[in-house]
Amino acid sequence: MNKPTTASYWIQSSSLPRFPRVVSDGTADVIVIGGGITGLTTAYLLAKAGRSVIVLERDRLAQNDTAHTSAHLTMVTDATLSELTARFGENHAQAVWHAGLAAIAQVDEIARAESIACDFTWVPGYVHRGLTSDTVDATNLFPREVQLASKMDFDVSLIEEVPLIGGRGLRFEHQARFHPRKYLAGLVRAVVRHGGKVYEHSAAEAFSAKPFTVTSNSCTLSCSEMVIATHDPLVGNASAAAAAFFQTKLALYTSYVVAGRVNKSTVPDALMWDTEQPYHYLRIDPHRDYDLVVLGGADHKTGQSRDTRECYREIEHALVRLLPGIEVTHHWSGQVIATSDGLPYIGRNTDHQFVGTGFSGNGLTFGTLTAMMAADDLAGRKNPWTELFDPGRTTLSAAWDYVKENKDYPFYLIRDRFAGTEGRSLADVPPGEGKVLTLSGSPAAVYRADDGSTSVHSAVCSHMGCLVGWNRAERTWDCPCHGSRFTPDGDVISGPAESPLGKLPD
Ligand code: FES
Repeated sequence: MNKPTTASYWIQSSSLPRFPRVVSDGTADVIVIGGGITGLTTAYLLAKAGRSVIVLERDRLAQNDTAHTSAHLTMVTDATLSELTARFGENHAQAVWHAGLAAIAQVDEIARAESIACDFTWVPGYVHRGLTSDTVDATNLFPREVQLASKMDFDVSLIEEVPLIGGRGLRFEHQARFHPRKYLAGLVRAVVRHGGKVYEHSAAEAFSAKPFTVTSNSCTLSCSEMVIATHDPLVGNASAAAAAFFQTKLALYTSYVVAGRVNKSTVPDALMWDTEQPYHYLRIDPHRDYDLVVLGGADHKTGQSRDTRECYREIEHALVRLLPGIEVTHHWSGQVIATSDGLPYIGRNTDHQFVGTGFSGNGLTFGTLTAMMAADDLAGRKNPWTELFDPGRTTLSAAWDYVKENKDYPFYLIRDRFAGTEGRSLADVPPGEGKVLTLSGSPAAVYRADDGSTSVHSAVCSHMGCLVGWNRAERTWDCPCHGSRFTPDGDVISGPAESPLGKLPD
């Protein structure tokens, strides 16, 4: 058997365009420091909104944290829903998961809007018993988790037999996977198309608050706002004392990943993670002739020495135990930044300076969320999660109904898409009725005519993406957001929607 390569699979299987070093002074509305998912998504959203943007990347784009992930896109945080509820209350716990869902929906929207071929796919997630230790059993947590999730309208179910692993587990709908670097390759091209300037090998070396400038490669770049998207945040214009204090709230961990090939369909197309501490996390990256299985775990505090080879051996052993005969092809490791309360820090940490960090294992979702929040902040728009993730938070106000307070925020207009539907089988729909079902992971508007034949369309309104509902009296699909109405066969009766309900994805 060949020795696995120690390069990240994501780097080996993709390429990004190259960009020059900054070599002259310049000006932009916003300077974004860091060329991973957080920085490039921020630059994209701002440039698309008409702001002038400069991105400074110290090395090459998408080379560090975004390239050393296992690329799970999930709303499910390391802290369980029970833990979040105990710490912050149900409202805030619900808002944390909403934030993750909103970020995944944002990735989907950008990938579709910019036609980025990044293998984005909505898949279910499963949490299950430990991969290596049969004695570790947190499965008694599952009923409480599913009860809380259902109360908060998340589509989560308790199942008795987790695919591949066996035993009891939870299934979460509406999670996703993608190829992170293929996504960033498309994203950076879109940034440039929308007028953004991108520089590689251009570290931010010095900062000044008056006038507001960043120095890179001895060039002076002026701006009115700065977004620090470097995962472990640079000090920027914060005071040294404030930055030092901020660092004490962050804990850095190293996490290890191995990957190998199996025959197609050996492993379900899903995100999977177990209940061990530290936990293992698994997904596939499908290819035409095989699936690449990616398994991570063995986390430890960075610098608190464990033998790296032993960490890889541990994960590899777990992978071979699960899939005997797998050919391990890759090893790599990445860094995770955790916070003491399990929530990220996203927001302003000093004047004109926005940061995002402490993503605690959900870097791709919270990185995307940082970009959404920065774009809202710089546009003066209200954002539902400002207080929750405030870098300076101390206590959170208890009586805060996020859903009610933010019902006009774009995510909340479409959030019904991610709640439970009325069933999962065509047989759930009686003659003369319509129901919104989950079919192949997507919400489907299913109508059964009196003669028993069915008509199946996407339940996502073609106007702005809310979920339609069945109007029993009129026998129509009606959209609660702006009142569009559709026939049982999905054709428009009245707008603002102008096109019929779409087809379901294959
Ligand atoms: Fe359906 Fe606007 S989203 S009418």
